[in-house]
Amino acid sequence: MMINPTSRAVFGLRVNLSRCLRSLPRLACRSYSQKVVPLTKETYPSTARNQAFARLSSDDIGEFKKILSDKNVLTDATDLEFFNEDWMRKYRGESKCVLKPQTTQQVSQILKYCNEKKIAVVPQGGNTGLVGGSVPVFDEVVLSLANMNKIRSFDNVSGIFKLDAGVILEIADQYLAEQGYIFPLDLGAKGSCHVGGNVACNAGGLRLLRYGSLHGSVLGLEVVLADGTIVDSMHSLRKDNTGYDTKQLFIGSEGTLGVITGVSILCPARPRFTNIAFLGLESYEAVQHCFTQAKNELGEILSAFEFMDEDSQDLARKFIKQTHPLEETYPFYVLIETSGSNKEHDDAKLETFLETSMENGIVSDGTVAQDEAQLKTLWYWREGVSEASTIGGGVYKYDVSIPLKDLYGLVEAARERLEEANLIGETDDFPVLRVLGYGHVGDGNLHLNVAVRRYTKEVEKCLEPFVYEWISEHHGSISAEHGLGFQKKNYIGYTKTENEIKLIKQLKNLYDPNGILNPYKYV
Ligand code: FAD
Ligand code: MLT
Ligand code: ZN
Repeated sequence: MMINPTSRAVFGLRVNLSRCLRSLPRLACRSYSQKVVPLTKETYPSTARNQAFARLSSDDIGEFKKILSDKNVLTDATDLEFFNEDWMRKYRGESKCVLKPQTTQQVSQILKYCNEKKIAVVPQGGNTGLVGGSVPVFDEVVLSLANMNKIRSFDNVSGIFKLDAGVILEIADQYLAEQGYIFPLDLGAKGSCHVGGNVACNAGGLRLLRYGSLHGSVLGLEVVLADGTIVDSMHSLRKDNTGYDTKQLFIGSEGTLGVITGVSILCPARPRFTNIAFLGLESYEAVQHCFTQAKNELGEILSAFEFMDEDSQDLARKFIKQTHPLEETYPFYVLIETSGSNKEHDDAKLETFLETSMENGIVSDGTVAQDEAQLKTLWYWREGVSEASTIGGGVYKYDVSIPLKDLYGLVEAARERLEEANLIGETDDFPVLRVLGYGHVGDGNLHLNVAVRRYTKEVEKCLEPFVYEWISEHHGSISAEHGLGFQKKNYIGYTKTENEIKLIKQLKNLYDPNGILNPYKYV
């Protein structure tokens, strides 16, 4: 049976579907005419430059030009801007040099040289990271993987895909689509981020619920260590129990242990049919009931379960400037995706789920995509929230795991605290514009965003360490998917024990004794 939303009064199709908005255009064309981002060293003066690191000399630049061609050694101030400033326009370094190697050998030669000279290095992928990890804090050299962008091989029987770390996620997925496969990770920054960057931060994304974590799907890595040693474990093996699984250490290490140059990953067959339902709900309790019911009734075809609150959709309305999928506003919205191989079966399951959810009062309204364009548009009302949250000028981002029952409580607590401090309001007198909550309910992962008109110490002090304490008290993690970077380096203790932190520091000292890889971050 076909899902026909128009046959049910409650499921009206009201989306404006003329444009495919899935990839994020702003990422490619950030405007630098806007006000200048203060240097990280000025905003966070308590972090001092490590004087053990050498200052870059013209001799060093000359050596880099011997390893790379001239055009792949950037030193012009305008060329450096993109690489020095992060996506949130919150952190800015003052690197004087960006290196763009094309081969693993070149990465190895660069790191060997930098290690010997004690030149600090920041590995950088698409620079879409959200914790200030991808940009220098001081004058570290940026090692961009953007020119390492070749697909190495694909086995269309096993689904094992090998590619350079600098391949853009969307390009990797498009390549796989032609072979009937899918990349087991999808996220809003797919048009700019690199697969190496994804692995380096162990990105979770929109379909972790279906495809699991990169710790499971990555089969092997090629990594260059700080001293230039190339460690090649680009396996084509699904199972391999010979010794420690060393690649796991680099997944989520955020460029602090080695530079990832190659990725071998297991890719599943691309689902042939996809449905999206966009629903309005009256309470966070209803969101939880809806999730339980979706798991029970949609079972194996459920591929995403995302939620957004009304504040996040209100900002999205202002940003997207199109008609919202639902006519009425609701305190909460849920986006459900199903993916499968039998359209009739999937449609029937979704229809039953929607009917039951409406009948028992869990869902108040909703709409279902009828074609590919509508599907992308509905997704954009979820994915576009990241960009919408920067509409005022900046955003404090907290990316947390909390047991589901308490998940939204953090948004309410943060909102209340900012209101009490008189920091939030409708006019320019207030630094905070809005507090929003959205995220991957299916993974117990909330994104608390505090959209601001300007970054201020007053707001930051009101939120930190309050947010981290709240998470710790509720047995959560301060970093569900974005990592620690510069933002959370002082707060790891809220989630990890002393002995875990000790082990992390020992590993760092072992792999990078001079500490040249992504300093001032992580721990
Ligand atoms: P970068 O930002 O360049 O780097 C991130 C970190 O990895 C840095 O510490 C850097 O030093 C290190 N690094 C990068 N490349 C390498 C390498 N080759 N070797 C070693 N270290 C390296 N994250 C999620 O988990 N889920 C989401 O749903 C999600 N959605 C996003 C949506 C938007 C709009 C944006 C802007 C970000 C989103 N993110 C999400 C954040 C996310 O982690 C990144 O977008 C992505 O994974 C980072 O990849 P990148 O290539 O841009 O890495
Ligand atoms: C998301 O889920 O949209 C991302 O992790 C990015 C964000 O938090 O904005
Ligand atoms: Zn996310």
